[in-house]
Amino acid sequence: MPGSRIVNASITASALEVREEGPTVSRKRSRNQSSPETTPIKPQTPIKWRSPRRRADADKNCEGDVSTDAKIVDSPRKSPRKRLSDQLSQKTKWNPRDPAQMQAVKEALHVATSPTNIVCREEEQRKVLDFCKGCIEREKAGSLYVCGCPGTGKTMSIERVKELILVWSKERGYQLLDMIAINCTSLANTSDIFSKILENFRPHKKMNGSFSPLQHLQTLFSQKGQLTSRRMILLVIDEMDYLITRDRSVLHDLFMLTTFPFSRCILVGIANAIDLADRFLPKLESLNCKPSIITFRAYSADQILKILQQRLMVLGYDVFQPSALEFCARKVAAASGDMRRALGVCRSAIELLEAELRDTKKEFNLVGFNHMELALSKAFKSAVVDTIQSLPQHQQIILCSLVKLFRQSKKNGTTVGELNKSYIGICKSTQVPAVGMLEFTSMCGVLSDQGLLKLGNSREDRLKRVTLQIDSSDIIFAFKGYRFFQSCLED
Ligand SMILES: Nc1ncnc2c1ncn2[C@@H]1O[C@H](COP(=O)(O)OP(=O)(O)OP(=O)(O)O)[C@@H](O)[C@H]1O
Ligand SMILES: [Mg+2]
Repeated sequence: MPGSRIVNASITASALEVREEGPTVSRKRSRNQSSPETTPIKPQTPIKWRSPRRRADADKNCEGDVSTDAKIVDSPRKSPRKRLSDQLSQKTKWNPRDPAQMQAVKEALHVATSPTNIVCREEEQRKVLDFCKGCIEREKAGSLYVCGCPGTGKTMSIERVKELILVWSKERGYQLLDMIAINCTSLANTSDIFSKILENFRPHKKMNGSFSPLQHLQTLFSQKGQLTSRRMILLVIDEMDYLITRDRSVLHDLFMLTTFPFSRCILVGIANAIDLADRFLPKLESLNCKPSIITFRAYSADQILKILQQRLMVLGYDVFQPSALEFCARKVAAASGDMRRALGVCRSAIELLEAELRDTKKEFNLVGFNHMELALSKAFKSAVVDTIQSLPQHQQIILCSLVKLFRQSKKNGTTVGELNKSYIGICKSTQVPAVGMLEFTSMCGVLSDQGLLKLGNSREDRLKRVTLQIDSSDIIFAFKGYRFFQSCLED
């Protein structure tokens, strides 16, 4: 999970060793900005989910050994019906003014909170698990390429598979399984991946300087007796897109490590690039180390809704109007299917309700459709909306004057003189001192230079024709939630 990785830590699960390493780096790309995760959350033990659907889902979707999961987290057994009735009888009303409840809601929706039961990814988890089991049973190295767009649950699902494979191999009495996890965003150079891997085999040994870490690894895996242990190694390389070089040699060398006669690596590479496999597969195929591929598809609206409901179920009270959650799921699915984004928008909608509660004595007990609409518009606002929001105040008032004028006259064009009258009217009603005609005309010129409106030709400034070059709904969107501009736009 981003931000919650273990650096050079050793976790011992019974007799099974888990070694992880990787960064605590902040996420790359713009996705952090896109998800308005504004409130810092204290690190904490993940909430144990008590969903009545959990057992049913686990049993239904994760046949065979994946149900090991249920064994890890789900004792003692209770029937789904009993759980549901327990939950219904416990259901209280949410009080958004209660800080503890508010904190619990935000935690339930925080990306760093890992649900005990990962819904909508059962099939993908099963495939990865089956692949790893196959390698362990045959004592044979292998490689898997897991790809999909951001926020589709790849990292989270593989983390779960790691837990499941440990339990499974212990149950089956297989040898200890070594686990190495590397997040490539932590690497200064792409080729550092090999020294990172090598550290796990020879933590205290000094390297022979004439060989590169890659050559050391190749020797380890190609000569009998070089490896001190016969354990299989689960090597999870996350954010593998960072290893793409022009000739893709690092990727090739990495996957090749699974082809050496004494290699015991189960390599699971995780990346966003769906076409990467196509680009580097032909070469890997010719090198006889073609990885199996598992694609995580973008979440659909139904899946996003199900995941949100599942995450909120732990609370025991309703937080959102159902229509608000559905709206969020539909919008996010249409835009990207990124779960991180859906969670961010929900948290932002809650923060809007929080802000409203600070300004009023009115009682709200649910995050409504309006909160969600505003949170979504903030998350998905266009570049035009950005521009409008960063204009100086008087230029913003001019845009409001135009919207108001066009709405009243039902026309889509006016003159600078008419626009100035509308502008002065708004300034009077909002008690903002209006600028003079000369300055007003020059501001219209600036707006025209920005491409927000168009000024016609006329010798007299007052007679110049003005038309909007952008959608008036963008202007209304940009000012939504700002009381001052709401009153500017009022008739
Ligand atoms: N099926 C799910 N159930 C519950 N939460 C989920 C699910 N899928 C994703 N999430 C949430 O979305 C967040 C992002 O998921 P994750 O980090 O696994 O995405 P990813 O596919 O690895 O994205 P990236 O490509 O950006 O690394 C998770 O931290 C989790 O909070
Ligand atoms: Mg990831």
